[in-house]
Amino acid sequence: MSEITNITSRLSHLECSLTGETADPNYAHRLSAAGKPFLARYDIEKASETLTKESLINREANMWRYREVMPVINRSNIVTLGEGFTPLSLAERLGKHLGMTHLLIKDEGVNPTGSFKARGLSAAVSKAFELGQTKLTMPSAGNAAGAMSAYAAAAGMEAHVYMPNDAPMANKIECVAYGAKLNLVDGFITDAGRISGEHAETYGRFDVSTLKEPYRAEGKKTMGYEIVEQLGFEVPDVIIYPTGGGTGIVGIWKALYEMEQLGWIGSQRPRMICVQAEGCAPLVNAYKKGQEFADPFENPSTLAAGMRVPAAVGDFLVIRAVRESGGTALTVDDDQMIDSVRTMAKFEGIFSAPEGGATLSALQLMIDSGEIGRDERVVLLNTGSALKYLDVLGPELGL
Ligand SMILES: Cc1ncc(COP(=O)(O)O)c(C=O)c1O
Repeated sequence: MSEITNITSRLSHLECSLTGETADPNYAHRLSAAGKPFLARYDIEKASETLTKESLINREANMWRYREVMPVINRSNIVTLGEGFTPLSLAERLGKHLGMTHLLIKDEGVNPTGSFKARGLSAAVSKAFELGQTKLTMPSAGNAAGAMSAYAAAAGMEAHVYMPNDAPMANKIECVAYGAKLNLVDGFITDAGRISGEHAETYGRFDVSTLKEPYRAEGKKTMGYEIVEQLGFEVPDVIIYPTGGGTGIVGIWKALYEMEQLGWIGSQRPRMICVQAEGCAPLVNAYKKGQEFADPFENPSTLAAGMRVPAAVGDFLVIRAVRESGGTALTVDDDQMIDSVRTMAKFEGIFSAPEGGATLSALQLMIDSGEIGRDERVVLLNTGSALKYLDVLGPELGL
């Protein structure tokens, strides 16, 4: 691994995703002056000198293998638990059941802390550590809090979590076990976000709310890099993503753009499908109405805690990616998600979070409507493990 040790990040600057305003990444930033997410930009030409397809063969099997396009400058600041490089498997039995020939599942449930949130938080905690932060805070629907608490523990940092009361029990328990300070909020994630933000100001903590700091998206973008690498540097036809705040879609879309600049792929793109719950669908509503930004969703309700996000700061980035890709946005209801959790478990041995189930429900609807062809190469993103949701799933499965 000595070859990799000497390779550095090619992070060059931060850029406001709305206005193009730039900022120096050597300082801790949150939102731009316009109140919109900053995105990390790299010197891709320099990165491409060492980050070649061939170079990947000898690299570590985690998300830090794409080191030149990751934001941490000094390798010793990387806080890792081995996140990423999750399997992308051909779902043969499920595919056959649906009459599909190229159905793939990327199983993020095998990540440390049981969800893809490990990627974003490994990146954000590492960068915050590198920039000298010592106290972290965030609002979370559940999985992100578990991940932040684990990475903060591994880095020896203080962690404060603000979680809606009705978050899954496993997420509450793990945060406490990791030594975080757990604050349960009687309200939605947006209420938790407000309190986390206020306390950050008062007590001098760094708030790593998704897309309100630049680096969680950098962790999540590695799902895009991996999908393409695992397909032999080809782009799938369709990616179906269960969307809350939408950081994953924003990240994957960014990865595709970077990979084109690296010369790994051409201009082809997968159709990005944004799935939300019927009980909380601000982005789907905005997409259908032709809006650029989403209106907050009133009284959000779904058992998929990760999709219970009534307002997202990166709304316009998700909607743009969906439109530019020729994809679409649609809803599924909780019963459909639970049915799909069971179907995926029975046919593939993958016990998915309800959010992962939502991707299968969306696929079924889109096959029926003819929007997805049975021979297309489709990737379902199972974003987490059902083992985090036993208190929610037990009664649904009659236990
Ligand atoms: C399992 C799971 N899936 C999907 C999501 C939504 O992720 P994003 O914020 O990238 O839309 C979450 C967020 O909490 C989650 O925990």
